[in-house]
Amino acid sequence: MSPVLADNKMLKLKKSCYKCNMTDLPQGLQNFIEEKARVCQPDKIHICDGSIEEYNALLELLQVNGSLQKLEKMDDCWLALTDPKDVARVESRTFICTKSMRDTIPTPKHGFKEVDSSLNLRNLKCTALGNWMSPEDLEYELGRRLPGCMKGRTMYVVPYSMGSVGGSISKIGVELTDSPYVVCNMRIMTRMGIKILGKIEDESVFVKCLHTVGVPLPTKMTIVNNWPCNPEMTMVAHLPEKNEVISFGSGYGGNSLLGKKCFALRLGSIIAKREGWMAEHMLILGITNPQGVKKYIAAAFPSACGKTNLAMMTPSVPGWKIECVGDDIAWMKFNEKGELRAINPENGFFGVCPGTSNSTNPIAMKTIQKHTIFTNVAHTADGEVYWEGMDDNMVSHGEHLISWKGKDWTKDSKEPAAHPNSRFCAPAEQCPIIDPNWESPEGVPISAIIFGGRRPQGVPLIYEAFNWEHGVYIGASVKSEATAAAEHKGKVIMHDPFAMRPFFGYNFGDYCKHWLSLSKEGRKMPKIFHVNWFRKSDNGQGSFLWPGFGENIRVLEWIFKRTDGDDSIAQKTPIGYMPKVDSFDMEGLNIPVGCIQELFSLDKQFWLGELEEIEKYFDQNVNISMPNEVLDQLSSIRERFLNI
Ligand code: GDP
Ligand code: PGA
Ligand code: MN
Ligand code: MN
Repeated sequence: MSPVLADNKMLKLKKSCYKCNMTDLPQGLQNFIEEKARVCQPDKIHICDGSIEEYNALLELLQVNGSLQKLEKMDDCWLALTDPKDVARVESRTFICTKSMRDTIPTPKHGFKEVDSSLNLRNLKCTALGNWMSPEDLEYELGRRLPGCMKGRTMYVVPYSMGSVGGSISKIGVELTDSPYVVCNMRIMTRMGIKILGKIEDESVFVKCLHTVGVPLPTKMTIVNNWPCNPEMTMVAHLPEKNEVISFGSGYGGNSLLGKKCFALRLGSIIAKREGWMAEHMLILGITNPQGVKKYIAAAFPSACGKTNLAMMTPSVPGWKIECVGDDIAWMKFNEKGELRAINPENGFFGVCPGTSNSTNPIAMKTIQKHTIFTNVAHTADGEVYWEGMDDNMVSHGEHLISWKGKDWTKDSKEPAAHPNSRFCAPAEQCPIIDPNWESPEGVPISAIIFGGRRPQGVPLIYEAFNWEHGVYIGASVKSEATAAAEHKGKVIMHDPFAMRPFFGYNFGDYCKHWLSLSKEGRKMPKIFHVNWFRKSDNGQGSFLWPGFGENIRVLEWIFKRTDGDDSIAQKTPIGYMPKVDSFDMEGLNIPVGCIQELFSLDKQFWLGELEEIEKYFDQNVNISMPNEVLDQLSSIRERFLNI
């Protein structure tokens, strides 16, 4: 018998799983469940114990009701196909609710974005840097969504920890959901179950998350693919003043696995500001040089811009080793010694499938062969998964697959086999290069922070900030081509400051101030860098100039040496330090010299235009909330350009 079940109180609770005996629960949790159950009116309440038996029972339930298919050729792998209307995060329907609007968003200079009435979100204030709603309007919107929303369904109670259970940086949440799919994914993505209950003494210690697919039973709505959702009424609301998240109408990833973006990033960034630390959209990796010296690096790229790939990279240069701590979120705190320590609050990977292959990311491919839930990928009749960019000879010409839309698919089909934002959800411990310290409660020491995005034009492969303030400017000025991770259409270049634009929990101007305030006497501040794997030839129209993936080790190698204080390899440019010609490791790299020159080139006219555009963006969108220190950095870069 496992030690957890040996505890009498817990055992009683487990037995009463399906007919919840509420008196066994911590009082604070009981209050929360009762409050929400009274409104949502589920038929049953199921307290999740997190056991493998429970997981298997839920998978079977999902299989029986047609929401999941077992992938017979794989080991305990499952496939969910969603309603095609519910395939990504919905940024336009995601907002923060505070008494004061200024706490959440800067007031734009020229007014708010126009809000489509079809959003069904009264008085939502939308800006380029987040959305806000007043508590009164939220009350109204909840009033027309929540009452009876779980009728005919089971409410699952999912207690979970972000970070290892009991760790000093870790935090607890409880998600109430009527989606067994969400429960299964939460069991992979967080430390979930009965072991958390002992940590809950009162309501103040956990973040309260409520999720519903928003389709009470019986329903007149048509359920597509056995994936209940309510796209017209979808909303993802955050109530920092109540430590609460309420998500209605979507079953998809970032909208429904509330520990991830909603708690660990949006509410997390608010808690972090209050307590003097950082909650960031960053991967964490360990890097060891051929001499055996190891460092840790954190990197922030917008969604679908290469975090998971970098975190699991197989270096092309012999002697170097990469180990993975996390691929999406970092919680970072300075310790008494002034070192920046980072944990990965998650327990699994919710990664982009298309483009993942044995040549680009063999480690991810190994990680997802068992105990993995796939969403919106294609599959073969005998139960194997497939997506664009997986492997060219995996599907021979003419072979018939079943697409993510459940349709017959061959290589000649016009539509993609997998949705561009299709995902795998796999336990982190299955990653063959998971770092030995990945669960260390005090976190790993961070030597460098990297920002990056998809920039087809003008932005060189790598540059380094002159100092912390300059680094904060670089973070604030991150831009990237839109991807399928959210509902944006087309390949427009968007601002995505700190790769956090969809995830800021509070006013971006205050976020910059918080970052600036972190640099203090006695702290070892990490060096800050900017990378771009996505520069293209022919002024952004051609193919990628840089091979990327395993070759990115060459860039990490330069960063590694710079954190060692090697000044011989860097030269000053107007935008920061860049590699000296010949100091960058190009041995064995098979790309034309012209491409290399282009990758490192700095075009004065491009950059003057870029600076002007960023200045305008700050002025219009961050307006008076922007700290002068950031604007001063912009002016300095412009001056440096004008002086050459
Ligand atoms: P994440 O969402 O930030 O974790 O990004 P992923 O690592 O999942 O990558 C998203 C997409 O970008 C995938 O299709 C990858 O194949 C692609 N990608 C990742 N790294 C690179 C790279 O270095 N070069 C190129 N060209 N594509 C990349
Ligand atoms: P990603 O995570 O950053 O791996 O794409 C999901 C998301 O940000 O939506
Ligand atoms: Mn992400
Ligand atoms: Mn990822």
